[in-house]
Amino acid sequence: MKKIIIALVALALPVMAIASGGAHLDKADIDLSNKGSLQNGAKMYVNYCLGCHSLKYMSYARMGKDLGLPDELVQENLMFTGKKIGEYMTISMPAANAEKWFGVTPPDLSVIARSRGADWIYTYLRNFYVDDSRPFGVNNRVFESVGMPHVLSQLEGLKKPVYTTEKDEYGTDRQVLTGYEYITEGSMTPAEYDRQVRDLVNFLVYTGEPAKLVRYDLGIKVILFLLFFLIIAYLLKKEYWKDIH
Ligand code: HEC
Repeated sequence: MKKIIIALVALALPVMAIASGGAHLDKADIDLSNKGSLQNGAKMYVNYCLGCHSLKYMSYARMGKDLGLPDELVQENLMFTGKKIGEYMTISMPAANAEKWFGVTPPDLSVIARSRGADWIYTYLRNFYVDDSRPFGVNNRVFESVGMPHVLSQLEGLKKPVYTTEKDEYGTDRQVLTGYEYITEGSMTPAEYDRQVRDLVNFLVYTGEPAKLVRYDLGIKVILFLLFFLIIAYLLKKEYWKDIH
């Protein structure tokens, strides 16, 4: 039995390493119950991502309702494209142009948090580094030769990679990316930037499964109801036993 378990674990390990691409991922620590974070994430998304990436299953009205924002606020702060509140968050960039500019069409990000995982996106957005051999002058630690520019570089600043030499399993020297050095400063400190990215990832986790938020709300209501019922039951019990004692 023990041998079978060991064999199963040995089989699973390489699969797990491949699934995570081998790269270390930082924890996103998202919190779907934090409405402020979700609202900020939505603002970040429409300002910095919606130009290229649609959210074609999400309507502006639904997003507003789920995040606790009235229609007027959504229209004033989160809509720039002359759309109507009931419309979906699509983009107007023709796919053919996008492919010419970036080599690939930027994918719709509706379910990206489910396919890549929150930690992956969180790590991805914090690991762009300067690489002059790339068309947009940047590369990415978790997405080698990425076709996306570093659209948040104004906030984060630009970093150059720091390599150290390590021996691989055959004993040959290998350059490994172990850190970064800032070459231009952004408008935010690294801690502030991490927080903004976390809010953005939080928002993408929500868009991947909007029903989760509804379940959160429902869960709280159910518990409140049960507590209320407990009090009634207790009072009833006291009332019944009064005559027997
Ligand atoms: C200027 C256009 C542009 C903007 C703006 C942009 N992206 Fe991208 N993004 C791309 C392109 C192009 C790719 C495809 C890269 C590839 O496949 O090489 C991409 C890929 C991605 C991926 C990986 C998708 C996959 O295949 O797994 C994620 C995640 C992502 N973008 C998130 C974002 C977020 C979040 C923002 C806003 C902060 C953003 N992008 C803004 C162009 C853009």
